[in-house]
Amino acid sequence: MGLPFFQINGTNRLRGQVRIGGAKNAALPIMAASLLCEGEVILHDVPRVADVAFLGELLGMLGVEVERRPDGALRLVVQDEMNCQAEYDIVRKMRASICVLGPLLAKRHKAQVAMPGGCAIGDRPVDLHIRAMRLLGADVELVSGDIVGKAKKLRGTEMFLGGPFGSSVLGTANAMMAAVLAEGTTVIEMAACEPEIVDLADFLNKCGASISGQGTPRIIIEGVRELKGCEYRIIPDRIEAGTFMVAAAITNGELDLENCRLDHLLAFVDRLAAVGVQVERKGELVTVSSSRRLEPIEVTTQPFPGMPTDLQAQLMALLCLADGNSIITEKIFPDRFLHVAELSRMGARLHKAGPTVIVQGVKRLVGAPVMASDLRASAALVLAGLAARGTTRIHRIYHIDRGYERIDEKLRGVGAEIERLEGDQE
Ligand code: UD1
Repeated sequence: MGLPFFQINGTNRLRGQVRIGGAKNAALPIMAASLLCEGEVILHDVPRVADVAFLGELLGMLGVEVERRPDGALRLVVQDEMNCQAEYDIVRKMRASICVLGPLLAKRHKAQVAMPGGCAIGDRPVDLHIRAMRLLGADVELVSGDIVGKAKKLRGTEMFLGGPFGSSVLGTANAMMAAVLAEGTTVIEMAACEPEIVDLADFLNKCGASISGQGTPRIIIEGVRELKGCEYRIIPDRIEAGTFMVAAAITNGELDLENCRLDHLLAFVDRLAAVGVQVERKGELVTVSSSRRLEPIEVTTQPFPGMPTDLQAQLMALLCLADGNSIITEKIFPDRFLHVAELSRMGARLHKAGPTVIVQGVKRLVGAPVMASDLRASAALVLAGLAARGTTRIHRIYHIDRGYERIDEKLRGVGAEIERLEGDQE
């Protein structure tokens, strides 16, 4: 028995209805925020993906009882506040582990979190996280690869949280989670505006926090003494929704998406419209269809409300089949182009120059064995495989299982020929 891989026979038109799950990137910081709460936290729509399992494991080590209830909800209760250490073995599996830093410092007054290293999408610093903790009054040092922090008491302050690439999503999450229990008022300038940050703030407010301005670059937090637990539903995953939009477009199909928030995807839908893909709201559903030629476009990734970097690779797969040359520029993670080499193996014509890729549209893609390199890049390979003539095998699909719940089953349900097989071809 070897590692699982996907085998896709392409060119089937996808048709039917797909339910979009809860957002992984909203669920992770909200799960970490349970460290701040006195009572029980019940979360609905937490996706069953590997990253959620990793964070559950880490929270378990930090004394949180984490359990899936029979109704699918995730229940988290802090049982023991002794351990304050997130070890490298778990942090290296998932960079989002960094979001226990703020809650641990705020609630347990100390934290030791292994420094996450770089990853396949490039160098990923954590300086903004550390800056935020220091500004709130924590004493933070780097000791043999760990971020070690102490804070008798955190104090509210004004902070500017912008870096060379703009705001930081998890940096903002950490600052907000630390500030909720700080003494006094905290103002975060250049806060991330992503819907996942709004979701975290809404969750914290439901637990008794006093946060305003979420969704804007200025978030204001009035510290409170304690947070209780609450019952909360995670927002729909905009990246999963965008991925299925491309699945419909790239196969000339038509999909109805359930549990899809168009207001979280306006920049992406704008780019799809320029390509010639129709996205319409029909009552509770969002219908995506494409039956005509695809126009080439220019697109640049930006922080929210701009075009998300997490959909760049998937959009590239679509633009490979456009009638002309497209230009994709990555402004968040300039090295996030590992999918370029793999898509090229499938017949794409891509020319990379620094943070920009020129996509020369081709008439067709052809199936090939390819290797997944990171979460969203692997989604792009699945999409390319759905459109390609012949058979595509995608190896190292543990990357895709980190963030997409049963993507193969969901695609099969709307007519794709995709199987999860096991073998030893690498
Ligand atoms: C989150 C998302 C990820 C998404 C990214 C950008 C989660 C679990 N992950 O990651 O899927 O691709 O937002 O939308 O929610 N930076 C610094 N210093 C820091 C932190 C970040 O310079 O301390 C830089 C990064 O290198 C990058 C940019 O800021 O260029 C944005 O990164 P950031 O928003 O922090 O990404 P994450 O929160 O890690």
